Amino acid sequence: MSWDDIIRPDLEPLVPYAPGLRASQVRERSGKDLVLKLSSNEHPCGPVPIALAAMREVLPRMNRYSDGGCTALRRKLSERLGVPAETVVVGNGSNEILRLIAQVVLRPGDEVVFAWPSFIVYPMVTAIFGATAVKVPLAEGDTLDLDAMLAAITPQTRLVFLCNPNNPTGTIYRKEAFERFLAAVPSHVLTVVDEAYFEFVTDSDYPDGLDYFDGDRPIVIARTFSKIYSLAGLRVGYAICPPNIAEALHKVREPFNVNTVAQIAAYYSLDDEVEVRRRRKENQEQKTYLYSCFDRLGIKYARSETNFVYFHTSRPVEVFEALLSEGVIVRDFGNAPALRVGIGTPEDTQMTIAALEVVAARLGKL
Ligand SMILES: Cc1ncc(COP(=O)(O)O)c(C=O)c1O
Repeated sequence: MSWDDIIRPDLEPLVPYAPGLRASQVRERSGKDLVLKLSSNEHPCGPVPIALAAMREVLPRMNRYSDGGCTALRRKLSERLGVPAETVVVGNGSNEILRLIAQVVLRPGDEVVFAWPSFIVYPMVTAIFGATAVKVPLAEGDTLDLDAMLAAITPQTRLVFLCNPNNPTGTIYRKEAFERFLAAVPSHVLTVVDEAYFEFVTDSDYPDGLDYFDGDRPIVIARTFSKIYSLAGLRVGYAICPPNIAEALHKVREPFNVNTVAQIAAYYSLDDEVEVRRRRKENQEQKTYLYSCFDRLGIKYARSETNFVYFHTSRPVEVFEALLSEGVIVRDFGNAPALRVGIGTPEDTQMTIAALEVVAARLGKL
């Protein structure tokens, strides 16, 4: 018997997702007690108090399956967003939503257009369902080049992923560019607008994907509770989709794909808008401090609408390791000449800035 006869051979080139280093691993390696994990774009504050209390209350009822239809959460999202409940699909993280979309749309030989670098899950789901990735380089300023993405669309294109703001660069495309894209994108293409960092955005020219959603146009907006709501470990995200797409997603998703604690936490998180506003403001202030450090050290960076900043360095491996030895875990991209650092609490920012200064003093120009 050969496993090659059993396992799909086209999966061979795929590699399992490599999570960043854990703080405990780095604590051991660096000997530092205080280690900051700023590599996964998590929020430092944890779930809002009202969500935490609701989670504790529901724990004794874990003998029961979750509500497979996510009824209460979908209803609340639909009211909050002003869309019919049947257009809202909740997933085990927005990651699951992206995968389900690929599953219901892609056939072997189809093409999927996305920018690069962008979110690592787009090439993964493309390959899993036997489609071909068409990667469009970012434009000057590390932003998505929507005109080039349009030009990359062929009769074989079935899906376009637009990450706005983009991970890992934190940049956005603006209303005018998006409207030009929507006016020209052919009707055989489903456009998925991934707005995982939506709640952090402050730029008034940011096109909120929902403003372009009418239930008819082939466009899906994906969002998550993992970032500003700080529920990454629970896994809950959602999509607003045309009803036909929503129906297809329900056909292929697991019956109880979102656990009860996640549903309850997400439901109550929506009640604390004051805290969301506070988090957005604090994030903005911390980014400004970090920018001033980058400016001082002559480091080139992309202005970010998210809770992370992408910065350029000709020595990514050395800088990554040097920051690690200062107890700061950032995200690297192999040998690509850039790193991504998350925004944490004000204390985290101070420690990040101190670490960058030590590293710059040690290595010279970064
Ligand atoms: C652009 C983007 N989309 C989607 C996700 C997935 O988020 P989750 O599955 O935690 O909802 C992430 C997570 O980092 C992301 O950066």
